[in-house]
Amino acid sequence: MAMTYEEIKAKVKKYGQEQVLKYVDVLTNAEKETLFAQIEATDMDVIECCKHKEDMAKRGVISPLGAMELSEIEANRESFTKTGIEAIKAGKVGAVLLAGGMGTRLGSDNPKGMYNVGITRELYIFECLINNLMDVVKQADAWIHLFVMTSDKNNDATIKFLTEHDFFGYNKDYVHFFKQEMAAATDYNGKILLEEKGKLSTSPNGNGGWFISLQKNGLLDLVHEQGIEWINVFAVDNVLQRIADPCFIGATIQKNCAVGAKVVRKAAPDEKVGCMCLEDGKPSIVEYYDMTQELMDAKNEKGEPAYNFGVILNYLFFVPDLEKMMENLPLHVVEKKIPYLDENGNLVKPEAPNGYKFESLVLDMIHQLSSCLPFEVVREHEFAPIKNKTGIDSVESARELLQKNGVVL
Ligand code: UTP
Repeated sequence: MAMTYEEIKAKVKKYGQEQVLKYVDVLTNAEKETLFAQIEATDMDVIECCKHKEDMAKRGVISPLGAMELSEIEANRESFTKTGIEAIKAGKVGAVLLAGGMGTRLGSDNPKGMYNVGITRELYIFECLINNLMDVVKQADAWIHLFVMTSDKNNDATIKFLTEHDFFGYNKDYVHFFKQEMAAATDYNGKILLEEKGKLSTSPNGNGGWFISLQKNGLLDLVHEQGIEWINVFAVDNVLQRIADPCFIGATIQKNCAVGAKVVRKAAPDEKVGCMCLEDGKPSIVEYYDMTQELMDAKNEKGEPAYNFGVILNYLFFVPDLEKMMENLPLHVVEKKIPYLDENGNLVKPEAPNGYKFESLVLDMIHQLSSCLPFEVVREHEFAPIKNKTGIDSVESARELLQKNGVVL
């Protein structure tokens, strides 16, 4: 049974969020119903955490975690690849494409994967990823289940686009979509903003929600039915991403790790990437903004920087260990540009951040697992993220890297 108007009023009062009902008198019954359903579904406890943001960012004791480096990988390539291919052939490997983000920095209203990186021809980000995955499908001679995480904001456009393009040649029986959850966005005082008179401002709740959302959408049943044991989670925006890489899979399996993480050697100690480490003795990632000078200067026994491997959002999780994960992921309070209605009820699209969104991150899942294999890959071959239109990690830099890797644009 849906909440009554009295119950809705009581809920928003309890959390000091009465402003969300400001326009309730001018809404139609249908609009009211939608707004009330949204208010009912919104977890308002999490919003409280922006009031003690600093405590949330507290870290444990950080110490180094070595990676499996290129030389070791080369020496074992054949054996790792064989193990990986066997796992794929046995249907034990699936992939999750994280495509629920808003891509605000790229500045397009479409899902990021619809971005055309081609120059003389059309070549979409989704197409690049599927081409990369197809390499493995051909090598293993087996299809791999691909789960695509979208959000309320881009789900329909994503499905329409991929369907219209016939999944760029991928077997559609092996593609499954699921939506992640949304979280309310607030101003700097923790007050939920409205984006319409009958609609809260919301944004996707971060890429850490992927496993719970997969489960809520009933797709974990498919994972079980198919006997999928390993899930390769990867970001939509790295067009050189190797997906379900047999060598990486084989190495993680042979080393008996709960998770594998693809990493690249950092370009400089202060490079803005999350870095693999141990935190209170468990695998973790130290974010670039938490990198102290001391951590940047630390050396290992070989005299090399001790925190030298950055993560590229490509992880291989062992499903049984994911299912044992009991703790909730920590929330990150992120400053963002949030469209909102001003005093007079007019929609404003701010040019600068004006409030907070609340996200959980996939990298926090690593810390809940007992063992992690950081697996080094060659940056120029596997890391071309598209975050911005120009400059660092942009369409321009990714095009250059694609061409260097022989992709015709
Ligand atoms: P980013 O952290 O780059 O966020 O996402 P974003 O939303 O795509 O881009 P900006 O910050 O607004 O410019 C890293 C990866 O995580 C996915 C993204 O789609 C991307 O593949 N992601 C992010 C989700 O799937 N859901 C989210 O809620 C956030």
